[in-house]
Amino acid sequence: MNHSVDTGWFLFLVMQQTAPIGVFDSGYGGLTVLKEIVTALPEYDYCYLGDNARAPYGPRSFDTVYHYTLEAVQWFFAQGCALVVLACNTASAKALRTIQQKDLPRIAPDKRVLGVIRPTTEIIGQFSQTGHIGILGTNGTVTSNSYPIEIAKFYPQLKVYQEACPMWVPLIENGEYNQAGADYFVQKHLDHLLGQSPDIDAILLACTHYPLLMDKIRQFLPKQVQVIAQGEIVAKSLATYLQRHLAIAEKCSKGGQIRFCTTDDAANFDHQAAIFFGKGVTSEQVDLIHS
Ligand code: DGL
Repeated sequence: MNHSVDTGWFLFLVMQQTAPIGVFDSGYGGLTVLKEIVTALPEYDYCYLGDNARAPYGPRSFDTVYHYTLEAVQWFFAQGCALVVLACNTASAKALRTIQQKDLPRIAPDKRVLGVIRPTTEIIGQFSQTGHIGILGTNGTVTSNSYPIEIAKFYPQLKVYQEACPMWVPLIENGEYNQAGADYFVQKHLDHLLGQSPDIDAILLACTHYPLLMDKIRQFLPKQVQVIAQGEIVAKSLATYLQRHLAIAEKCSKGGQIRFCTTDDAANFDHQAAIFFGKGVTSEQVDLIHS
């Protein structure tokens, strides 16, 4: 056996840099996705970043969401991450394509950024018998038309109806999601959505915050209407992606650790994040621009 070749190969492997998988959201919502990702792929390390200081993204312009998201992605790259998941529909709708097509080839051709819209639209047709699907999202996601456009690529026969629910994220972020005050806004938007077609039999929660409203949503919907949350869908899709893209998977470290970061106050983040993640977290505050 040639030991020098062997040693060289070993050193190459040791020196090859690995880092956590980055998971991003405007705030807390992406934690509902991270929870499912960690369940599906517990062996990897993760770095979660919530841009709480600038949330919500939902009402912001294309340009603003794009610039905020790009800053976050560059921050993840500075931490060494080779793979970043935008676990935020608004960022996926308004920033992902430009980042993938324009920025990545220039700033980090070996790194990858994935979103939540593509994995969801690939399989959404499986949930409907009638061929009528409802989409609930932020203003940003709905006005971008990303869901109808992407769904048409995989299921051209599906009819897609959308409803923006601008009050839902503030209700959730302010801990009102299980209070009586939320009923009005939940019912109002479900009525608007179902008013567009009585045949809707599956509704996608196209905002990573909305699973917290699941109980209330169910309460105001007919039994036969299925409600779809994205966490498990995104987690399964990420698992398949890592199996198919070994060069990226090899750059993702494995140690079962999660680092939680926020652009706003860490103590506040920890308090709220536990509700979204399902268990306690300890975060650190980071500065996207100067770190
Ligand atoms: N969680 C984000 C999403 O999935 C939206 C929250 C916000 O408006 O910032 O769209």
